[in-house]
Amino acid sequence: MRLDADDLSAGALGAYLARGQQPRTLQLLTVTFTLAYRASGTGIPRLGNDARRTEVGATAEDLIERSVPFVEEIKNRTAGVELEAWLNQERGPGSGLWDDLAGIIKDGVADGWAANEEIDGPNYRRSRIIGPSERLNWFSITAVYMNSVPLFCGEYHQHPYGEINMVIPLDEGALLRGPRGWQGPGWTSPEPGSHHYPEVVGGGLIALFYLPAGRISYDITVPEDYDFMVPEGYRMSAADGQ
Ligand SMILES: [Fe+2]
Repeated sequence: MRLDADDLSAGALGAYLARGQQPRTLQLLTVTFTLAYRASGTGIPRLGNDARRTEVGATAEDLIERSVPFVEEIKNRTAGVELEAWLNQERGPGSGLWDDLAGIIKDGVADGWAANEEIDGPNYRRSRIIGPSERLNWFSITAVYMNSVPLFCGEYHQHPYGEINMVIPLDEGALLRGPRGWQGPGWTSPEPGSHHYPEVVGGGLIALFYLPAGRISYDITVPEDYDFMVPEGYRMSAADGQ
């Protein structure tokens, strides 16, 4: 199944709805998709019985402090396929780094100090936790919370210097799309100059990302041939599988 970029862009959808206009194509599907997305969660992340969640809530300072040795490790590496493979192999779930960061940022989202600014309703939220500074070798840290069972695409953007992005599913099976495919618990690392939608499918997740020099650009046009897709067994829209 293939949809046009105009139909799935969160920003475009908001503009259509605000102006009382309809998308050019797939009007019914898109509206159904949007309503289902908005109704799909309460805005409260479902943390379940995750043993990694700390007894006393962690703080933003805990996240920054835990990130200091991490950025020291990656500061002279370039985002891309090699770094992504290394992160998933050496710093994935079960490693001290991944487990610590995941526990801290889950606390942050649950307690409201991370991903607490709504971009498009309670199921698409973001916040920059710290801007680039010498303490973190001029990396910034941002957290995004996205929650949608059907495919949802956030704001299209470009990474002038690349991105190092940790994926923390809150629902089993929730996935984020990276440049090399759909990613569950682990990492993606889009190359410098690459651009993409943040795309989620299968439920709620947190993306915790480190940006060299804090650079990210929303001044980028979506390619006309952008290829929307979902893994087999997942839902492209709210109308699928019903
Ligand atoms: Fe990104």
